[in-house]
Amino acid sequence: MATPDHWRHCIAEAGYNLFALRADDVLIDLLTDSGTGAMSRDQWAAVQHGDESYAGSPSWYTFLDAVTDLFPFRHVIPTHQGRAAEKILFSVVGGPGKVVPNNTHFDTTRANVEFTGAEAVDVPIAEGRDPGNRHPFKGNLDIAALEGLVSRVGARNVPLVMVTITNNSGGGQPVSLENLRQVRRVCDRFGLPLFLDACRFAENAWFIREREPGQSQREVADIVREVASLADGMTMSAKKDPLANIGGWLACNDDALAEACRSMLILTEGFPTYGGLAGRDLEAIAQGLRESVSHDYLRYRIRSTAYLGEALERLGIPVVVPIGGHAVYVDAGALLPHIPPLDYPGQSLAIALYEAGGVRSCEIGSVMFGRRQDGTEQPAAMELVRLAIPRRTYTQSHIDYVIEVCGSVAADAAKLRGLKMVFEPLQLRHFTARFEPRTTVS
Ligand code: F0G
Repeated sequence: MATPDHWRHCIAEAGYNLFALRADDVLIDLLTDSGTGAMSRDQWAAVQHGDESYAGSPSWYTFLDAVTDLFPFRHVIPTHQGRAAEKILFSVVGGPGKVVPNNTHFDTTRANVEFTGAEAVDVPIAEGRDPGNRHPFKGNLDIAALEGLVSRVGARNVPLVMVTITNNSGGGQPVSLENLRQVRRVCDRFGLPLFLDACRFAENAWFIREREPGQSQREVADIVREVASLADGMTMSAKKDPLANIGGWLACNDDALAEACRSMLILTEGFPTYGGLAGRDLEAIAQGLRESVSHDYLRYRIRSTAYLGEALERLGIPVVVPIGGHAVYVDAGALLPHIPPLDYPGQSLAIALYEAGGVRSCEIGSVMFGRRQDGTEQPAAMELVRLAIPRRTYTQSHIDYVIEVCGSVAADAAKLRGLKMVFEPLQLRHFTARFEPRTTVS
Protein backbone atom coordinates (compact mmCIF):
# COMPACT_ATOMS: atom_id res chain seq x y z
CA MET A 1 0.00 0.00 0.00
CA ALA A 2 1.14 3.57 -0.68
CA THR A 3 -0.42 6.98 -1.18
CA PRO A 4 -1.21 9.06 -4.26
CA ASP A 5 1.62 11.42 -3.18
CA HIS A 6 4.08 8.53 -3.42
CA TRP A 7 2.69 7.37 -6.78
CA ARG A 8 2.88 10.93 -8.19
CA HIS A 9 6.52 11.12 -7.12
CA CYS A 10 7.35 7.71 -8.64
CA ILE A 11 5.78 8.39 -12.05
CA ALA A 12 7.49 11.79 -12.31
CA GLU A 13 10.82 10.08 -11.54
CA ALA A 14 10.00 7.51 -14.24
CA GLY A 15 9.62 10.23 -16.90
CA TYR A 16 5.88 9.51 -17.00
CA ASN A 17 6.54 6.13 -18.56
CA LEU A 18 4.82 3.27 -16.70
CA PHE A 19 7.40 0.79 -18.01
CA ALA A 20 10.07 2.68 -16.05
CA LEU A 21 8.41 2.18 -12.65
CA ARG A 22 9.73 -0.23 -10.06
CA ALA A 23 7.11 -2.98 -9.78
CA ASP A 24 7.27 -2.60 -5.99
CA ASP A 25 5.74 0.84 -6.47
CA VAL A 26 2.72 -0.68 -8.27
CA LEU A 27 -0.29 -1.87 -6.27
CA ILE A 28 -2.29 -3.69 -8.97
CA ASP A 29 -0.26 -4.49 -12.07
CA LEU A 30 -2.36 -4.67 -15.24
CA LEU A 31 0.51 -3.65 -17.54
CA THR A 32 0.42 -6.98 -19.33
CA ASP A 33 -0.89 -10.55 -19.20
CA SER A 34 2.48 -11.70 -20.54
CA GLY A 35 4.43 -13.99 -18.23
CA THR A 36 2.63 -12.52 -15.22
CA GLY A 37 0.23 -15.38 -14.54
CA ALA A 38 0.42 -17.74 -11.57
CA MET A 39 1.68 -21.21 -12.43
CA SER A 40 -0.42 -24.08 -11.13
CA ARG A 41 0.58 -26.79 -8.65
CA ASP A 42 1.00 -29.20 -11.53
CA GLN A 43 3.23 -26.77 -13.44
CA TRP A 44 5.50 -26.38 -10.41
CA ALA A 45 5.56 -30.15 -10.06
CA ALA A 46 6.50 -30.39 -13.75
CA VAL A 47 9.38 -27.95 -13.15
CA GLN A 48 10.91 -30.58 -10.84
CA HIS A 49 11.02 -32.98 -13.79
CA GLY A 50 13.18 -30.58 -15.80
CA ASP A 51 16.09 -32.40 -17.41
CA GLU A 52 18.89 -30.05 -18.34
CA SER A 53 20.69 -32.15 -20.97
CA TYR A 54 22.07 -29.86 -23.63
CA ALA A 55 20.70 -31.90 -26.54
CA GLY A 56 17.72 -34.25 -26.79
CA SER A 57 16.48 -33.76 -23.22
CA PRO A 58 13.35 -35.73 -22.21
CA SER A 59 11.85 -32.33 -21.32
CA TRP A 60 12.17 -31.34 -24.98
CA TYR A 61 10.12 -34.37 -26.03
CA THR A 62 7.48 -33.62 -23.38
CA PHE A 63 7.27 -30.07 -24.77
CA LEU A 64 7.19 -31.26 -28.38
CA ASP A 65 4.36 -33.72 -27.66
CA ALA A 66 2.28 -31.05 -25.90
CA VAL A 67 2.79 -28.53 -28.71
CA THR A 68 2.08 -30.94 -31.57
CA ASP A 69 -0.97 -32.35 -29.78
CA LEU A 70 -2.64 -28.96 -30.38
CA PHE A 71 -0.56 -27.64 -33.30
CA PRO A 72 0.54 -30.59 -35.42
CA PHE A 73 3.14 -28.78 -37.52
CA ARG A 74 6.08 -30.78 -38.87
CA HIS A 75 8.75 -28.54 -37.38
CA VAL A 76 8.70 -26.96 -33.92
CA ILE A 77 11.51 -24.56 -33.04
CA PRO A 78 11.62 -23.48 -29.38
CA THR A 79 12.54 -19.87 -28.53
CA HIS A 80 12.89 -17.88 -25.32
CA GLN A 81 9.76 -15.85 -26.12
CA GLY A 82 7.47 -14.80 -28.95
CA ARG A 83 9.54 -11.99 -30.39
CA ALA A 84 12.53 -14.29 -30.83
CA ALA A 85 10.35 -16.48 -33.05
CA GLU A 86 9.29 -13.35 -34.95
CA LYS A 87 12.87 -12.17 -35.31
CA ILE A 88 13.99 -15.51 -36.73
CA LEU A 89 11.00 -15.88 -39.07
CA PHE A 90 11.19 -12.37 -40.52
CA SER A 91 15.00 -12.42 -40.79
CA VAL A 92 14.49 -15.38 -43.11
CA VAL A 93 11.42 -14.28 -45.11
CA GLY A 94 11.46 -10.46 -44.76
CA GLY A 95 13.63 -7.81 -46.38
CA PRO A 96 13.25 -4.61 -48.41
CA GLY A 97 10.35 -4.65 -50.87
CA LYS A 98 8.46 -7.36 -48.96
CA VAL A 99 4.97 -6.73 -47.58
CA VAL A 100 3.44 -8.64 -44.65
CA PRO A 101 -0.34 -8.40 -44.17
CA ASN A 102 -1.85 -9.13 -40.74
CA ASN A 103 -5.28 -8.43 -39.21
CA THR A 104 -3.27 -6.21 -36.83
CA HIS A 105 0.42 -6.57 -36.05
CA PHE A 106 1.27 -6.33 -32.38
CA ASP A 107 4.14 -3.99 -31.49
CA THR A 108 7.02 -6.48 -31.55
CA THR A 109 5.69 -8.21 -34.68
CA ARG A 110 5.49 -4.92 -36.56
CA ALA A 111 8.96 -3.93 -35.31
CA ASN A 112 10.50 -7.23 -36.38
CA VAL A 113 8.94 -6.99 -39.85
CA GLU A 114 10.07 -3.38 -40.25
CA PHE A 115 13.57 -4.07 -38.89
CA THR A 116 14.23 -6.21 -42.00
CA GLY A 117 13.16 -3.35 -44.27
CA ALA A 118 9.82 -5.00 -45.08
CA GLU A 119 6.45 -3.28 -44.69
CA ALA A 120 3.86 -4.41 -42.11
CA VAL A 121 0.30 -3.71 -43.28
CA ASP A 122 -2.76 -4.04 -41.02
CA VAL A 123 -5.97 -5.19 -42.73
CA PRO A 124 -8.62 -5.54 -40.00
CA ILE A 125 -12.32 -5.41 -40.80
CA ALA A 126 -13.77 -1.88 -40.39
CA GLU A 127 -15.78 -2.96 -37.32
CA GLY A 128 -12.47 -3.81 -35.62
CA ARG A 129 -11.49 -0.14 -35.57
CA ASP A 130 -14.80 1.02 -34.09
CA PRO A 131 -14.59 0.61 -30.29
CA GLY A 132 -18.38 0.74 -29.81
CA ASN A 133 -19.30 -1.80 -32.51
CA ARG A 134 -20.51 -5.14 -31.04
CA HIS A 135 -19.50 -7.40 -33.93
CA PRO A 136 -18.77 -10.86 -32.39
CA PHE A 137 -15.48 -11.32 -34.29
CA LYS A 138 -13.89 -7.89 -34.45
CA GLY A 139 -10.47 -9.53 -34.85
CA ASN A 140 -11.38 -10.72 -38.36
CA LEU A 141 -9.17 -9.87 -41.29
CA ASP A 142 -10.70 -7.87 -44.16
CA ILE A 143 -10.71 -10.41 -47.01
CA ALA A 144 -11.32 -7.89 -49.81
CA ALA A 145 -8.55 -5.63 -48.46
CA LEU A 146 -6.18 -8.62 -48.34
CA GLU A 147 -6.95 -9.57 -51.94
CA GLY A 148 -6.54 -5.95 -53.03
CA LEU A 149 -3.21 -5.62 -51.23
CA VAL A 150 -1.74 -8.85 -52.62
CA SER A 151 -2.90 -8.00 -56.16
CA ARG A 152 -1.42 -4.52 -55.87
CA VAL A 153 2.02 -5.41 -54.51
CA GLY A 154 2.27 -8.79 -56.26
CA ALA A 155 2.18 -12.20 -54.55
CA ARG A 156 5.95 -12.65 -55.02
CA ASN A 157 6.49 -9.71 -52.64
CA VAL A 158 4.28 -11.20 -49.92
CA PRO A 159 6.31 -13.84 -48.05
CA LEU A 160 3.36 -14.86 -45.86
CA VAL A 161 0.01 -13.72 -44.51
CA MET A 162 -0.32 -13.49 -40.73
CA VAL A 163 -3.41 -13.64 -38.54
CA THR A 164 -3.15 -12.65 -34.87
CA ILE A 165 -5.47 -14.61 -32.57
CA THR A 166 -6.86 -12.88 -30.60
CA ASN A 167 -6.19 -9.43 -32.02
CA ASN A 168 -4.24 -7.79 -29.19
CA SER A 169 -3.81 -4.24 -30.53
CA GLY A 170 -7.45 -4.20 -31.61
CA GLY A 171 -8.96 -4.96 -28.20
CA GLY A 172 -8.29 -8.66 -27.57
CA GLN A 173 -10.97 -9.47 -30.12
CA PRO A 174 -11.35 -12.95 -31.63
CA VAL A 175 -11.06 -14.17 -35.22
CA SER A 176 -13.76 -16.58 -36.43
CA LEU A 177 -13.14 -19.99 -37.96
CA GLU A 178 -15.05 -18.82 -41.02
CA ASN A 179 -12.73 -15.84 -41.45
CA LEU A 180 -9.67 -18.09 -41.12
CA ARG A 181 -11.10 -20.40 -43.80
CA GLN A 182 -11.58 -17.40 -46.09
CA VAL A 183 -8.00 -16.22 -45.47
CA ARG A 184 -6.85 -19.76 -46.28
CA ARG A 185 -8.70 -19.62 -49.61
CA VAL A 186 -7.06 -16.30 -50.52
CA CYS A 187 -3.65 -17.72 -49.57
CA ASP A 188 -4.29 -20.80 -51.73
CA ARG A 189 -5.35 -18.65 -54.67
CA PHE A 190 -2.11 -16.64 -54.52
CA GLY A 191 0.11 -19.52 -53.36
CA LEU A 192 0.98 -17.84 -50.04
CA PRO A 193 1.71 -19.43 -46.67
CA LEU A 194 -0.57 -18.55 -43.75
CA PHE A 195 1.02 -18.06 -40.33
CA LEU A 196 -0.77 -17.61 -37.01
CA ASP A 197 0.45 -15.29 -34.28
CA ALA A 198 -1.22 -17.62 -31.84
CA CYS A 199 -0.38 -16.18 -28.38
CA ARG A 200 -4.02 -16.22 -27.24
CA PHE A 201 -5.22 -19.25 -29.22
CA ALA A 202 -7.20 -20.78 -26.33
CA GLU A 203 -9.17 -17.61 -25.58
CA ASN A 204 -9.81 -17.26 -29.31
CA ALA A 205 -11.10 -20.84 -29.49
CA TRP A 206 -13.34 -20.25 -26.47
CA PHE A 207 -14.92 -17.26 -28.24
CA ILE A 208 -15.43 -19.42 -31.35
CA ARG A 209 -17.19 -22.00 -29.18
CA GLU A 210 -19.36 -19.33 -27.55
CA ARG A 211 -20.17 -17.19 -30.56
CA GLU A 212 -19.80 -19.02 -33.86
CA PRO A 213 -22.81 -20.93 -35.19
CA GLY A 214 -22.43 -24.71 -34.88
CA GLN A 215 -19.40 -24.63 -32.54
CA SER A 216 -20.98 -24.68 -29.07
CA GLN A 217 -20.69 -28.45 -28.54
CA ARG A 218 -17.04 -28.78 -29.49
CA GLU A 219 -14.00 -29.30 -27.30
CA VAL A 220 -11.77 -26.22 -27.30
CA ALA A 221 -8.76 -28.45 -28.07
CA ASP A 222 -10.58 -29.71 -31.16
CA ILE A 223 -11.27 -26.13 -32.33
CA VAL A 224 -7.60 -25.27 -31.77
CA ARG A 225 -6.55 -28.23 -33.94
CA GLU A 226 -8.86 -27.10 -36.72
CA VAL A 227 -7.45 -23.55 -36.53
CA ALA A 228 -3.92 -24.98 -36.74
CA SER A 229 -4.89 -27.18 -39.70
CA LEU A 230 -5.78 -24.05 -41.69
CA ALA A 231 -2.27 -22.61 -41.27
CA ASP A 232 1.20 -23.43 -42.56
CA GLY A 233 2.98 -22.25 -39.46
CA MET A 234 2.86 -20.15 -36.33
CA THR A 235 4.71 -17.97 -33.89
CA MET A 236 3.93 -18.26 -30.21
CA SER A 237 4.63 -16.61 -26.90
CA ALA A 238 4.23 -19.19 -24.14
CA LYS A 239 3.91 -16.25 -21.72
CA LYS A 240 0.27 -15.81 -22.66
CA ASP A 241 -2.27 -18.62 -23.05
CA PRO A 242 0.26 -21.43 -22.37
CA LEU A 243 0.40 -20.14 -18.77
CA ALA A 244 4.18 -20.01 -18.46
CA ASN A 245 6.44 -17.20 -17.27
CA ILE A 246 8.79 -17.48 -20.25
CA GLY A 247 9.06 -19.29 -23.57
CA GLY A 248 7.77 -19.46 -27.10
CA TRP A 249 8.17 -21.23 -30.40
CA LEU A 250 8.10 -21.02 -34.15
CA ALA A 251 6.47 -23.86 -36.07
CA CYS A 252 5.98 -24.60 -39.75
CA ASN A 253 5.49 -27.37 -42.30
CA ASP A 254 8.01 -26.17 -44.87
CA ASP A 255 11.29 -28.14 -44.61
CA ALA A 256 13.50 -25.51 -46.27
CA LEU A 257 12.08 -22.68 -44.17
CA ALA A 258 12.56 -24.74 -41.00
CA GLU A 259 16.15 -25.46 -41.95
CA ALA A 260 16.90 -21.75 -42.47
CA CYS A 261 15.16 -20.82 -39.21
CA ARG A 262 17.04 -23.49 -37.24
CA SER A 263 20.34 -22.10 -38.46
CA MET A 264 19.33 -18.67 -37.17
CA LEU A 265 18.15 -20.27 -33.93
CA ILE A 266 21.54 -21.83 -33.25
CA LEU A 267 23.17 -18.46 -33.90
CA THR A 268 21.07 -16.50 -31.43
CA GLU A 269 18.90 -18.71 -29.18
CA GLY A 270 20.47 -22.12 -28.70
CA PHE A 271 20.38 -25.71 -29.84
CA PRO A 272 17.09 -26.77 -31.52
CA THR A 273 15.96 -28.95 -28.60
CA TYR A 274 15.98 -26.11 -26.06
CA GLY A 275 16.11 -22.78 -27.97
CA GLY A 276 16.98 -20.43 -25.12
CA LEU A 277 14.92 -22.25 -22.50
CA ALA A 278 15.86 -24.43 -19.57
CA GLY A 279 14.47 -27.98 -19.50
CA ARG A 280 12.29 -26.97 -16.54
CA ASP A 281 10.74 -24.18 -18.64
CA LEU A 282 9.88 -26.66 -21.39
CA GLU A 283 8.12 -28.83 -18.76
CA ALA A 284 6.15 -25.87 -17.35
CA ILE A 285 5.00 -24.88 -20.83
CA ALA A 286 3.92 -28.44 -21.69
CA GLN A 287 1.78 -28.66 -18.54
CA GLY A 288 0.46 -25.11 -19.05
CA LEU A 289 -0.64 -25.99 -22.57
CA ARG A 290 -2.69 -28.89 -21.27
CA GLU A 291 -4.36 -26.60 -18.70
CA SER A 292 -4.92 -23.77 -21.19
CA VAL A 293 -7.68 -25.60 -23.06
CA SER A 294 -9.64 -26.60 -19.94
CA HIS A 295 -13.24 -25.42 -20.25
CA ASP A 296 -13.55 -24.62 -16.54
CA TYR A 297 -10.44 -22.47 -16.67
CA LEU A 298 -11.48 -20.65 -19.85
CA ARG A 299 -15.02 -20.00 -18.60
CA TYR A 300 -13.54 -18.41 -15.45
CA ARG A 301 -10.91 -16.51 -17.42
CA ILE A 302 -13.22 -14.91 -19.98
CA ARG A 303 -15.93 -14.24 -17.40
CA SER A 304 -13.57 -12.47 -15.01
CA THR A 305 -12.31 -10.15 -17.77
CA ALA A 306 -15.92 -9.37 -18.71
CA TYR A 307 -16.68 -8.64 -15.02
CA LEU A 308 -14.26 -5.70 -15.08
CA GLY A 309 -15.39 -4.50 -18.51
CA GLU A 310 -19.09 -4.61 -17.71
CA ALA A 311 -18.55 -2.70 -14.46
CA LEU A 312 -16.72 0.06 -16.37
CA GLU A 313 -19.53 0.17 -18.93
CA ARG A 314 -22.06 0.60 -16.10
CA LEU A 315 -20.01 3.55 -14.85
CA GLY A 316 -20.35 5.12 -18.30
CA ILE A 317 -16.66 4.66 -19.13
CA PRO A 318 -16.21 4.01 -22.87
CA VAL A 319 -14.59 0.60 -23.42
CA VAL A 320 -14.00 -1.56 -26.48
CA VAL A 321 -16.99 -3.91 -26.80
CA PRO A 322 -17.58 -6.80 -26.77
CA ILE A 323 -15.10 -7.19 -23.88
CA GLY A 324 -11.95 -8.96 -25.08
CA GLY A 325 -10.33 -12.11 -23.73
CA HIS A 326 -7.22 -11.04 -21.84
CA ALA A 327 -7.90 -7.38 -21.17
CA VAL A 328 -10.35 -4.53 -20.97
CA TYR A 329 -9.51 -1.64 -23.31
CA VAL A 330 -10.68 1.82 -22.27
CA ASP A 331 -11.35 4.14 -25.21
CA ALA A 332 -9.22 7.07 -24.03
CA GLY A 333 -9.95 8.99 -27.24
CA ALA A 334 -13.65 9.04 -26.32
CA LEU A 335 -13.10 9.64 -22.59
CA LEU A 336 -10.64 12.51 -23.17
CA PRO A 337 -11.88 14.22 -26.36
CA HIS A 338 -10.17 17.46 -25.25
CA ILE A 339 -6.69 15.89 -25.60
CA PRO A 340 -5.49 15.67 -29.24
CA PRO A 341 -4.12 12.23 -30.30
CA LEU A 342 -0.53 13.48 -30.52
CA ASP A 343 -0.76 14.79 -26.95
CA TYR A 344 -1.37 11.13 -26.07
CA PRO A 345 -4.74 10.83 -24.32
CA GLY A 346 -4.09 7.14 -23.58
CA GLN A 347 -0.81 7.90 -21.82
CA SER A 348 -2.53 10.66 -19.84
CA LEU A 349 -5.25 8.27 -18.68
CA ALA A 350 -2.79 5.49 -17.83
CA ILE A 351 -0.78 7.94 -15.69
CA ALA A 352 -3.93 9.17 -13.95
CA LEU A 353 -4.94 5.59 -13.02
CA TYR A 354 -1.51 5.05 -11.52
CA GLU A 355 -1.40 8.36 -9.66
CA ALA A 356 -4.88 7.84 -8.21
CA GLY A 357 -4.63 4.18 -7.22
CA GLY A 358 -1.26 2.63 -8.01
CA VAL A 359 -2.89 0.72 -10.90
CA ARG A 360 -0.51 0.14 -13.82
CA SER A 361 -2.01 -0.19 -17.30
CA CYS A 362 -0.62 0.13 -20.82
CA GLU A 363 -1.24 2.73 -23.53
CA ILE A 364 -2.09 1.18 -26.89
CA GLY A 365 -2.44 4.24 -29.07
CA SER A 366 -0.27 6.92 -30.61
CA VAL A 367 2.60 6.43 -28.17
CA MET A 368 2.86 2.77 -29.19
CA PHE A 369 1.95 3.07 -32.87
CA GLY A 370 2.26 6.78 -33.81
CA ARG A 371 5.78 6.70 -35.27
CA ARG A 372 5.77 5.62 -38.94
CA GLN A 373 8.60 3.88 -40.77
CA ASP A 374 9.39 7.11 -42.66
CA GLY A 375 9.94 8.97 -39.37
CA THR A 376 6.73 11.00 -39.43
CA GLU A 377 4.27 10.92 -36.55
CA GLN A 378 0.60 10.17 -37.19
CA PRO A 379 -2.26 9.32 -34.84
CA ALA A 380 -2.87 5.59 -34.31
CA ALA A 381 -6.17 4.03 -35.42
CA MET A 382 -7.44 4.11 -31.81
CA GLU A 383 -6.34 5.66 -28.52
CA LEU A 384 -6.74 2.82 -26.03
CA VAL A 385 -5.62 2.03 -22.49
CA ARG A 386 -5.35 -1.68 -21.86
CA LEU A 387 -6.10 -3.15 -18.45
CA ALA A 388 -4.58 -6.60 -19.01
CA ILE A 389 -5.52 -9.33 -16.58
CA PRO A 390 -2.70 -11.67 -15.51
CA ARG A 391 -3.94 -15.28 -15.50
CA ARG A 392 -5.04 -16.81 -12.18
CA THR A 393 -3.46 -13.94 -10.22
CA TYR A 394 -5.92 -11.35 -8.90
CA THR A 395 -9.11 -11.85 -6.89
CA GLN A 396 -12.49 -10.26 -7.43
CA SER A 397 -11.81 -7.77 -4.62
CA HIS A 398 -8.61 -6.61 -6.32
CA ILE A 399 -10.66 -6.02 -9.46
CA ASP A 400 -13.36 -4.21 -7.46
CA TYR A 401 -10.64 -1.83 -6.29
CA VAL A 402 -9.56 -1.25 -9.92
CA ILE A 403 -13.18 -0.45 -10.79
CA GLU A 404 -13.30 2.17 -8.00
CA VAL A 405 -10.07 3.77 -9.20
CA CYS A 406 -11.32 3.88 -12.81
CA GLY A 407 -14.59 5.44 -11.64
CA SER A 408 -12.89 8.20 -9.68
CA VAL A 409 -10.45 9.04 -12.50
CA ALA A 410 -13.24 9.06 -15.12
CA ALA A 411 -15.33 11.40 -12.99
CA ASP A 412 -12.54 13.99 -13.23
CA ALA A 413 -11.50 13.18 -16.81
CA ALA A 414 -12.03 16.76 -18.04
CA LYS A 415 -9.16 17.90 -15.77
CA LEU A 416 -6.57 15.59 -17.36
CA ARG A 417 -3.95 17.12 -19.65
CA GLY A 418 -1.86 15.69 -22.47
CA LEU A 419 1.87 15.04 -22.60
CA LYS A 420 4.88 15.97 -24.68
CA MET A 421 7.35 13.23 -25.60
CA VAL A 422 10.82 14.52 -24.73
CA PHE A 423 12.85 11.39 -25.56
CA GLU A 424 12.23 8.47 -27.87
CA PRO A 425 14.45 5.62 -29.13
CA LEU A 426 14.55 4.48 -32.76
CA GLN A 427 12.41 1.35 -32.33
CA LEU A 428 9.52 0.35 -30.04
CA ARG A 429 9.51 3.79 -28.49
CA HIS A 430 6.79 3.17 -25.90
CA PHE A 431 9.08 1.00 -23.77
CA THR A 432 11.66 3.72 -23.03
CA ALA A 433 10.21 7.08 -24.12
CA ARG A 434 10.11 9.91 -21.58
CA PHE A 435 7.40 12.53 -21.25
CA GLU A 436 6.59 15.86 -19.65
CA PRO A 437 3.04 16.84 -18.75
CA ARG A 438 1.52 19.70 -20.71
CA THR A 439 0.11 22.40 -18.50
CA THR A 440 -2.35 23.67 -21.10
CA VAL A 441 -4.43 22.14 -23.88
CA SER A 442 -2.31 22.41 -27.08
N1 F0G B 1 2.34 -11.30 -30.57
C1 F0G B 1 1.36 -10.80 -29.79
C2 F0G B 1 -0.05 -10.76 -30.30
C3 F0G B 1 1.67 -10.34 -28.50
O1 F0G B 1 0.70 -9.88 -27.73
C4 F0G B 1 3.02 -10.40 -28.06
C5 F0G B 1 3.39 -9.90 -26.75
C6 F0G B 1 3.97 -10.94 -28.91
C7 F0G B 1 3.61 -11.39 -30.16
C8 F0G B 1 5.44 -11.06 -28.49
O2 F0G B 1 5.60 -12.05 -27.52
O3 F0G B 1 6.36 -10.85 -25.46
O4 F0G B 1 6.79 -13.29 -25.76
O5 F0G B 1 8.04 -11.65 -27.09
N2 F0G B 1 2.63 -9.17 -26.06
C9 F0G B 1 2.86 -8.70 -24.72
C10 F0G B 1 1.71 -7.81 -24.32
C11 F0G B 1 4.20 -8.15 -24.45
O6 F0G B 1 1.84 -7.08 -23.32
O7 F0G B 1 0.66 -7.86 -24.96
P1 F0G B 1 6.77 -11.95 -26.40
